[in-house]
Amino acid sequence: MNQDTSKYNAAEEAIKLIKNGMVVGLGTGSTAKIAVDLIGQKLSDDFQIIGMPTSIKTKEQAKSLGIKLIEIDDSDRIDIAIDGADEVSPDLSLIKGLGGALLREKKVEKKAKELIIIVDESKIVEKLGVGFLPVEVAVEAHETTKDKISKLGCIAELRIEKNNLPFVTDNKNYIYHCKFDNGIDNPKELDKQLMEIEGVVDTGLFINMATKIIIGTPDGTKIIV
Ligand code: A5P
Repeated sequence: MNQDTSKYNAAEEAIKLIKNGMVVGLGTGSTAKIAVDLIGQKLSDDFQIIGMPTSIKTKEQAKSLGIKLIEIDDSDRIDIAIDGADEVSPDLSLIKGLGGALLREKKVEKKAKELIIIVDESKIVEKLGVGFLPVEVAVEAHETTKDKISKLGCIAELRIEKNNLPFVTDNKNYIYHCKFDNGIDNPKELDKQLMEIEGVVDTGLFINMATKIIIGTPDGTKIIV
């Protein structure tokens, strides 16, 4: 499938940036999964890295591939992080977290000297908010938190699993999917307003974090820096 080839091409290009001995933030989602697989394949006596996973799922994957791992709190600074995204705007602002791992992704990726985002062309938008903005909230009083989030001008829906129960994150929180009718005019301001709401743990807005976007295409890659 073209989209799979595009994701593969982006992931393959990204892992060329990883040098032997680096501490690498390992992202979550279908594109990041390809990158982690490729890192696993590249391991040798001359190429070893230390991974800092952004989710329990990625941790299990990396462990099974023999990648050495550290926990989020083990280091304040890491060399590079590679992850997917749900939306990428021209100024490299991102929406992430539709895979449910935004809190750990943001914690890890804030530590990274370089944050490399790998996406296919479908993720490129003119303005963030084409789709949902995920917001992670504490379970306690989550409906009150939702009401406060909605006052910022969106429709907020609790993320529900196929079993009809709320999706629970790795950090045991819920996620609200927020839809703004005309997209998000000022992502930085919105992020600030959301973070001021009691009960909001983190948002899927990743502003001023990505250093390079690698867009995979069926034939190769395009880069935005
Ligand atoms: C995980 O929580 C997300 O931030 C993912 O990085 C994002 O949803 C992109 O995933 P795909 O590569 O599967 O589209």
